[in-house]
Amino acid sequence: EKDLLVLGIETSCDETAAAVIKNGTEIVSNVVASQIESHKRFGGVVPELASRHHVEQITIVIEEAMQQADAAFKDLDAIAVTEGPGLVGALLVGVNAAKALSFAHQIPLVGVHHIAGHIYANRIGHEMKFPLLALVVSGGHTELVLMKGHAEFEVIGETRDDAAGEAYDKVARTLNLPYPGGPQIDRLAHEGKPNVDLPRSWLEGTYDFSFSGLKSAVINTLHNAAQRGESIRPEDMAASFQQSVIDVLVGKTVEAVKAFGVKEVLVAGGVAANKGLRAALSEAFRDLPEVALRIPPIQLCTDNAAMIAACGTVLFEKGKRSSLDLNAYPGLDI
Ligand code: KG4
Ligand code: ZN
Repeated sequence: EKDLLVLGIETSCDETAAAVIKNGTEIVSNVVASQIESHKRFGGVVPELASRHHVEQITIVIEEAMQQADAAFKDLDAIAVTEGPGLVGALLVGVNAAKALSFAHQIPLVGVHHIAGHIYANRIGHEMKFPLLALVVSGGHTELVLMKGHAEFEVIGETRDDAAGEAYDKVARTLNLPYPGGPQIDRLAHEGKPNVDLPRSWLEGTYDFSFSGLKSAVINTLHNAAQRGESIRPEDMAASFQQSVIDVLVGKTVEAVKAFGVKEVLVAGGVAANKGLRAALSEAFRDLPEVALRIPPIQLCTDNAAMIAACGTVLFEKGKRSSLDLNAYPGLDI
């Protein structure tokens, strides 16, 4: 049988990315141009700047991915592109590049949901076993997603306010750490002790999350300490904040795994790169050997196009085709 070759394109936020994937599970090339350095001095992603960087980079990144794969456009079975959610101006750059290539080379076009992509980062190198539960923790999303089959997504819990990554970035800003704050807090947390008393938002009886109360508690605790002339070591605050986030993420995931009797747990999104979270999940699932825990390698946790191509391959095989009037959908539901 002929190999299925899919080009993936991702431009939803601050990484311009293209990748070629074979049979939905094997990386042939994977190119990511990060804009983090440009956004750093503004303390977060500036949408207009992101769009302009994507325009500058998109052709170069796609050509690089094709070259590294030693592939020609005529070899491709499909082009998969992130259609949403994300920054509209950023998404449009990828969508338009994908449409132009699809039209010029007569290659089928497949729009992919960004979070579905994050989940499918876990199919690279491993076949999925259903039913499974995905813990999605990114800069914009915190969700528990139940999957009973390929590309079937049922959200059983989600954040009611801030996403986990968003909370990391906001707390990092409070601690005067550079953007993106997640990796900075992760690093500091390992040098500190979780000795600051912070709340855990359990939202009993639901699989929902809430992180804005925790963020406020960090700000208030630092403020009150400063007023008393005391200081809290940033390392200890980072460790305490991280512990609170991890306790809730792991606790709720284990609870859902038991309730839904899933065979696998997949972890997805930028916060899945967190060393503390990876360790805590491994520890928790050591007691549940019948459930396989999968966490992608760090470079596949943060935004990339390999995951978009992996998900796009499954959608393509299921018959999904997007037309040339494909648009960018900033608030798309999974
Ligand atoms: O999935 P992603 O790359 O982009 C979105 O789709 O949002 O996630 C980015 C988020 C940022 O909030 C970043 O601070 C967080 O992931 N992040 C981390 C770590 N690495 C990235 N958070 C905690 N610990 C990390 N090591
Ligand atoms: Zn993402």
